[in-house]
Amino acid sequence: MVNPPTMVNGFDPASAASLPERTRAQVERRERLLGPTYRLFYATPVEAVRAEGVYLYDADGREYLDAYNNVPCVGHCHPRVTDAVARQMTVLNTNTRYIQDSILAYSEQLLATFPHELGNVTYTCTGSEANDLAMRVARYHTGSDGIIVTANAYHGLTSTVAEFSPSLGSGSPLGPHVRAIDAPDELRLPPGQTVADYMRDQVRAAIADLARHGFGLRAFIADSIFSSDGVYAHPAGFLRPVVDEVHRAGGLYIADEVQPGFGRNGDGWWGFQRHGIVPDIVTVGKPMGNGIPIAAAIFRPELLTEFGANIRYFNTFGGNTVSIAAAQAVLDVIGDEGLIENARTVGAYLRDGLKGLAAGREWIAQVRGAGLFIGAEITTADGTLTPDGPLAANIVNGLRERGVLISASGPHGNVLKIRPPLPFSARDADRLLEELASVLDEENPWPST
Ligand SMILES: Cc1ncc(COP(=O)(O)O)c(C=O)c1O
Repeated sequence: MVNPPTMVNGFDPASAASLPERTRAQVERRERLLGPTYRLFYATPVEAVRAEGVYLYDADGREYLDAYNNVPCVGHCHPRVTDAVARQMTVLNTNTRYIQDSILAYSEQLLATFPHELGNVTYTCTGSEANDLAMRVARYHTGSDGIIVTANAYHGLTSTVAEFSPSLGSGSPLGPHVRAIDAPDELRLPPGQTVADYMRDQVRAAIADLARHGFGLRAFIADSIFSSDGVYAHPAGFLRPVVDEVHRAGGLYIADEVQPGFGRNGDGWWGFQRHGIVPDIVTVGKPMGNGIPIAAAIFRPELLTEFGANIRYFNTFGGNTVSIAAAQAVLDVIGDEGLIENARTVGAYLRDGLKGLAAGREWIAQVRGAGLFIGAEITTADGTLTPDGPLAANIVNGLRERGVLISASGPHGNVLKIRPPLPFSARDADRLLEELASVLDEENPWPST
């Protein structure tokens, strides 16, 4: 049998024999029915049967503190979302070819969270579709093909988008028109450079190379918190010179807010705002409907004029009445429950706690992030900053065994990724820190540090 490609925090099917009986049977059934392309999380996968708030429950009724899932951003099964969806299902659920007030009211409120330059929204079902559309529009507008991404970015799964999603690995080749630049990694900068300088210089070189190969520049697309590159939020503002460079070359800047968006960074609604820049296109998704599939691309209206005149966009389920009802409830709850402020305060509290645990453990090289999007980088303790993915995996799995769910990210899978639903409280943070402390004591491969 060919070994499936690895995924960060992915379950290895070769170890199925050592699983508890029921889990093994479920894993085998899944493999038989769903085939080999899906991946499960954790060395011992979790069978999720129900969830509420920041808690998830397995088939044995065991409770897990969910410090990872960003789709249920206002909390699993939030009653205002479930009520809105259930109610709307009994009244009307149709598509964007009919006039409906709800999509207009929602669009007004959604667009009001963006800088005034971004004035049109197109609804899709997934973040991949939103990025696919963003790139189609960018191609139409610029007439160029070249795309710049970061080295371990993920932007989605369509053929077009997979071509600029390097994190899919060597089995999913990048397009010839795609250039990947290093992530904004403060720890490993060339001597004398700032993050902003380094990013700008790399983008400049990529633009020159794309020009040399006849591709020109269509767009620079970046996840505003560089989720799959390993979570990079600081120093705020480092994207500004990059975007200036992209605009000078005639390209567009697409902010991928599919993971970091909807207030998670704690400073405002959108990650790009931390950098003091205004994108040409923004894509959003994942948390938008708290689990009901809805995503969108938000445009400077002038970009859509020609595209819209020549090409119609119809997405059967994108922006349907029920999805919009869910999205409206999410937007309302984020505001009414002060969840952006909660992300800011609890995120800072949790990061401080993590920094406390990192003190004296040199192998936790950096705790970083913004709001409730946090990364903790695990390396060797010998001063070489060599990424230690296996140790990070042990920590993730140790927490899972103790009933706390996180995951990992980065090209080496060595960055603990903590990204809980936004109602995560200081008490939840304490529990995470307590369990993590006990895992770190157990896993410490560098006892002298
Ligand atoms: C940054 C980013 N962009 C786009 C996508 C694609 O979104 P979807 O899975 O909804 O197609 C993802 C999904 O993980 C993502 O993390």
